[in-house]
Formats: sequence, C-alpha cells, structure tokens
Amino acid sequence: MDLKSKINETMTFLTGTVNWRPEVGLILGSGLGALAEEVREALAIPYRKIPHFPVSTVEGHAGKLVMGNLAGKKVAAMQGRFHFYEGYSMADVTYPVRVMREMGVKTLVITNAAGGINPFFRPGDLMLIGDHINLMGDNPLRGPNDETFGPRFPDMSRAYARDLRDKAHAVAASSGIRLQEGVYAGLMGPSYETPAEIRYLRAVGADAVGMSTVPEVIVANHCGIQVLGISCITNMAAGILHQNLSHDEVMAVAEQVRTKFSELVKGILAALD
Ligand code: HPA
Repeated sequence: MDLKSKINETMTFLTGTVNWRPEVGLILGSGLGALAEEVREALAIPYRKIPHFPVSTVEGHAGKLVMGNLAGKKVAAMQGRFHFYEGYSMADVTYPVRVMREMGVKTLVITNAAGGINPFFRPGDLMLIGDHINLMGDNPLRGPNDETFGPRFPDMSRAYARDLRDKAHAVAASSGIRLQEGVYAGLMGPSYETPAEIRYLRAVGADAVGMSTVPEVIVANHCGIQVLGISCITNMAAGILHQNLSHDEVMAVAEQVRTKFSELVKGILAALD
C-alpha cells in the first residue's frame, strides 16, 4: 500500500476517535515522556491501536499518542518514539510526522536525550537544537518523492525555526532555566560512540550526539512543519569525563530534569501564536 493510502486509513481511525485537530505536535524522547501526563482532557491512544503505526520496543518508551490540551494549545504528543536502531525503516520512524501534518500540525516540538560534546555543557543541561548533522547513513526522503507531500530537494537551511528558538530563549530567561544552544549530531546507534568518534564529532562542529530526531526533522521540513528541537544532555559523551555510559544513567538524568523541562516546554507552547 502506498504512503498516501496508509495515511488515509490512519486518519479515518483518528478522526473517528477525536473530533478536533491538534495545532502542535510533541515528540517526547527517552525519559522525557512524563510531560504527556500533564496533558489535560487527554485521550491516550496506544500506538498498537493506530492503523499503520509501528510499535515501540525500547524500555522507557510508553508508546502512546496523547491528544489533549497543554498550556492552552491543542496538542498531539508522542509518548515514546521509533528509532532507526530498533530496526524500523526511516519511513516507519517518520510516519507519525506525516500523520501529524495530515491532522493539521503546524509546529513540532521534538525532544531527545543526548550526550554532551561541548565542554561547556554539563549533565542535566537543556540544549536547543540550532542545526543538525545527519550521520545516520540514511535519509527518510530516499526513494520516489510524492510532490503533494513536499519537494524532491527540500531546503534545510532553516531546519530549526529561528523565531521558535528566540521564543524558547525568552521563556528560559524569564524562568531562570539555563538553556544552551548547539548542533546535534544524529548517529544510527545503538552502541554509544567511542572516544575517538566523539573527538571526530567535536572537530566537525557537533555540540551533542544522539540516535534520533534527525529523520523526523527532515520529514517535518519536507512537509512544511516548523520545528523546535530540545536535547536533554543526560551525560557527557564518551571519553570526555572518562566515565562509562549507561542507558540507566540517561534515564535517571532525564528524570531529574523533568520539572524544568516541562516548565520550558509549557512556557514555549503558551508563547506560540
Ligand atoms: N550518545 C548517543 N546517544 C545518547 C547519549 C550519548 O552519549 N546520551 C543519550 N543519548
């Protein structure tokens, strides 16, 4: 079945389940899913009930689409995302973004857990993504292009909208939240990087590294959704502090930033027009 027909079937289900349209999409990364619990008048739809949605497998990813009201905005929040390293295709990983677009989402807030490369960062910092480097070895737009979704060669020079970042900085400043900004390098994973790879990433201009986000941001740009990206720096990347990396530590630090992360995201949502 082609993408358009799949999306139509997904939409038939979703429009039969909720009778309103979200304006903002949220993708909540590892350990950051708790924000979905703050959505009011929420309807939580498990991914497995949504036709053509892949099903999440990673620990710490609940796998629900939570639709409702957050900070005065109608949102569709993904509690748990699909990763390329889980074995999904790029088309699977980005399918929910296509659906969000079809539902009417204009702004997508994408979050993740990431390792800090910039030596001025520390674990627990939040970083706005100013730009990214795609080192995943694939691109979700590879293959035939459906012009009704977007152009064959989409411009990526403003992949992360400047005015959304300005709003985020203003919210952070008024709430006393330390907010970094930098370049996110997206790698396939699932092994963490070696210290040599981190030295390489630092040399090519990366401030943080992770295993997600890049595919969704490419597809969002392809179909005309503006993006705000936030990384939670859960650890310093391999070799920087000479510590071992573990998923448990990533989850624990993401849990510690929960309050300021949710304050920042809700402040940004409230500031959107
Ligand atoms: N590397 C890659 N992905 C990550 C990291 C890391 O150090 N921390 C959280 N996600």
